Amino acid sequence: MNRYFLAIIGGGPAGYTAAEKASKAGKEVILFEQNALGGTCLNVGCIPTKSLLYGAKQYYNATHAAKYGVTAENVAFDYAAMQKRKTIVVRKLVAGIKQRLNNEYCTVISGTAAVACRTDEFVSITCNGETYEAENLLICTGSTNFVPPIPGIKDNPVVWDSTDALAATELPKSMIIIGGGVIGMEFATLYHELGVHVTVIEALPNILPNLDQDVVAVLLDKYRKAGINILTSTKVESLDGGKVTANGEVYEAEKVLVSVGRRANLQGLEALNDLELNRGAIVIDDFCKTNLPNVYACGDVTGKIMLAHVAARQAEVMVGRLLKQIPLQRIAYNAIPSVVYTNPEIATVGITEQQAESMSIPVEVHKLPMTFSGRFMAENEGETGLCKMIVDAKNHSILGVHCIGNPCSEFISAASFAVRNGYTVPEMQQVVFPHPTVSEILHEIL
Ligand code: NAI
Repeated sequence: MNRYFLAIIGGGPAGYTAAEKASKAGKEVILFEQNALGGTCLNVGCIPTKSLLYGAKQYYNATHAAKYGVTAENVAFDYAAMQKRKTIVVRKLVAGIKQRLNNEYCTVISGTAAVACRTDEFVSITCNGETYEAENLLICTGSTNFVPPIPGIKDNPVVWDSTDALAATELPKSMIIIGGGVIGMEFATLYHELGVHVTVIEALPNILPNLDQDVVAVLLDKYRKAGINILTSTKVESLDGGKVTANGEVYEAEKVLVSVGRRANLQGLEALNDLELNRGAIVIDDFCKTNLPNVYACGDVTGKIMLAHVAARQAEVMVGRLLKQIPLQRIAYNAIPSVVYTNPEIATVGITEQQAESMSIPVEVHKLPMTFSGRFMAENEGETGLCKMIVDAKNHSILGVHCIGNPCSEFISAASFAVRNGYTVPEMQQVVFPHPTVSEILHEIL
């Protein structure tokens, strides 16, 4: 039997990045994927949501264009057509991934893989009734939507998770979203912009609880004024069809979307009974190695930060280590940017003011409305936005940047670069930003 250098279970951003990198270095790689290549991100996550959100934004902009001196009559949308376009975008990107893995050292198997046994010399994997052996195993099995044990939620036909919502070709008239996290607020944006009556129910005192709360307050104010019903500190007690009881009150909608977090997928790994887990996710070191000598894990299954770009970077670091590439690289977890595709969008990197306080790090907080950027003023009528920079009070290095305002997702990378490299405020002041761009806010705020 051919013994591969590396077997990878899961073909999402972690799996396909590792497969491409290791096979291009001339190592024999075998990758198993039970659904489509590209994983959650490409098929039922980042890309389909952004495709639909872009359609919704076009409609929203057309119906709110009067503030720019433009009036459009009889503006309409066709949700089925938006869905069709989304499917085409996804299909093209999945084909692109297939192309990237098309080399003589990479074998892709379509099917559900399970670990059969492991020794320190090899790992044996079964898939479609065949057995395969590899010197090393990389687990990139991702995560799935968590369904909380709320009475009436299971097998309720009006309850959707994000995958159901992305597949639906018709819009409901009203929607209750349980969980005001990233998925909840992105879907709230999509449905609200397309005229669905949206209620968000969040158990904690704030939506998007891990983000900078001044930034979140800007979104909350806009969304509440726009008519999205956002309930915080509200716990769902039970469901009866579309009737949701929370804090003793009953709310009703045609559909209920549940977005209360995701959990690591560990199916098929039962043979690795001494694999170390923490809160249901695989424990890894700085190079994505597990406690077992020849077993690695990357992406959502590690429960670190559930973002596609983290998964891909983990895969790069892991392959670098496996191939003994010098210098060994690490992941700068302190400088991972993240974006929430609300409208306006939120983009952040590094620690928040609230986190600095809880870690007792003395910081200076710089705050500026986005309207200090000329380009922002020109293109964001009626919006103020906000940019916050968290600076180490002792050495003046930039520890975090948090923005709300379009299109902050497109320039947060500059802030990531500063945080990653420990830039100080005087160093950042020497960076020239093109004028007029919204990115100039990163200079104005210093
Ligand atoms: P999340 O962890 O971001 O948010 C879940 C929310 O649900 C939290 O605010 C939590 O307090 C609330 N919650 C939990 N139980 C509840 C209950 N019983 N009733 C009411 N509220 C409850 O998880 P989410 O939104 O499901 O996203 C999953 C993962 O996917 C996250 O790690 C997220 O970062 C990632 N993701 C990233 C995106 C992006 O980068 N743009 C887009 C979508 C998802």
